[in-house]
Amino acid sequence: MSQFDTIYNREYTDSAKWDGRKQGENFIRWQRTYPSLHGDDAIIPMWVADMDFAAPQVVIDALKERLEHPIFGYTMTPDSYFEAICDWMQERQGWHCEQEWICPHAGIVPALFFAVAGLLAADEKVVIQPPVYYPFMYGPQRNERGILRNTLIYKDGAYSIDFEDFEAKCADPKAKMFILSHPHNPIGRLWSEAELVRMGEICAKHDVIIFSDEIHSDLIMPGEDFVSFGALTQFHDNLIIANAPSKTFNLAGLKCSSVIIPNATLRDQYQGYVMQHAAERVNLFGVISTEAAYRHGGPWLDELLVYLKDNLTLTETFIRDRLPMIKVIPCQATYLVWIDCSALGLDREALDHLFIEEARVYPDEGHIFGDEGDGFMRLNLACPRSILEEALVRIEKAIVSNA
Ligand SMILES: Cc1ncc(COP(=O)(O)O)c(C=O)c1O
Repeated sequence: MSQFDTIYNREYTDSAKWDGRKQGENFIRWQRTYPSLHGDDAIIPMWVADMDFAAPQVVIDALKERLEHPIFGYTMTPDSYFEAICDWMQERQGWHCEQEWICPHAGIVPALFFAVAGLLAADEKVVIQPPVYYPFMYGPQRNERGILRNTLIYKDGAYSIDFEDFEAKCADPKAKMFILSHPHNPIGRLWSEAELVRMGEICAKHDVIIFSDEIHSDLIMPGEDFVSFGALTQFHDNLIIANAPSKTFNLAGLKCSSVIIPNATLRDQYQGYVMQHAAERVNLFGVISTEAAYRHGGPWLDELLVYLKDNLTLTETFIRDRLPMIKVIPCQATYLVWIDCSALGLDREALDHLFIEEARVYPDEGHIFGDEGDGFMRLNLACPRSILEEALVRIEKAIVSNA
């Protein structure tokens, strides 16, 4: 038995994924949309991107050790924290990061919003590649900046970049920033070095800042290779990389991430804006967990990746053999699988109803990633295998009884 087979009851821990259906301002979707599913109804939540696995013991031990000291006053972020991040990037991702490039931030989504608000003038725009992680749209929208959609090409069950359109969008005189999801959430694709170089060259030519969100970059399926934008030093002048151990080690609630900016002028501009809003500090426990995870969590991660790959293979095989009317998009990275349900011929509401109310499995609905996600569902596979099996059987029953 694997450590990842253990089932933890996360209900009543204020887990967004499990309890968000019952309460909470931020996760009101459950309440508003599916009031009938509260209480004891055993819906399986497979939406928001955290894992139903315990964090590595090395992280828990480091946190416990600090808790032995009963004072939690103002703290500093020690050099050893920055060193651990740089060593991880060098050893696991093969690129050189200088400590002074790192701006700690309490989460990548807030950092992204600060970058949009702080680096773009009021009439400037952001290029995104939908279907994509929805805060890439909310960031510009809530800060009243424009969006240029370089919609990904979906053909024969796989995604690629429309480079001609990408160049046209970057050439817009108001285009100022490109937000890249690498690996891409929700489609699970890794961008190759050749694709990164091509995007990088277009951005450099049109003076567009690249914001490369690499939060899923440690969750690479065994056998696949990840190339960080940070490894492409020719683009460092125009580059922001966002990364964190939060997806990798299941630490999202500890709110600690890194915004890495090699160019000192760009970094001062970003950090100046963050400091103007007094948002440059991170949580003591986030710092401790980051350092412990990056220093000692490698073996745990290697085991996790094998488990996730097996969950992916199980899902692919089940759907291929028993539900050929829906299709799993090839997944090279992340524990999120993107499923094309368009052949079911259901509109948005009917498809949501089928999964949520009939199968009683809660995915992230494809359309929340933009209209380009219509007809798709995103399933989070980071759960014990027995739960995944139950969810797949429920989905099968609902689809078959609707056919
Ligand atoms: C691409 C991407 N960026 C950022 C985040 C969230 O980052 P944070 O929790 O650090 O704000 C997620 C979470 O799902 C994500 O998928």
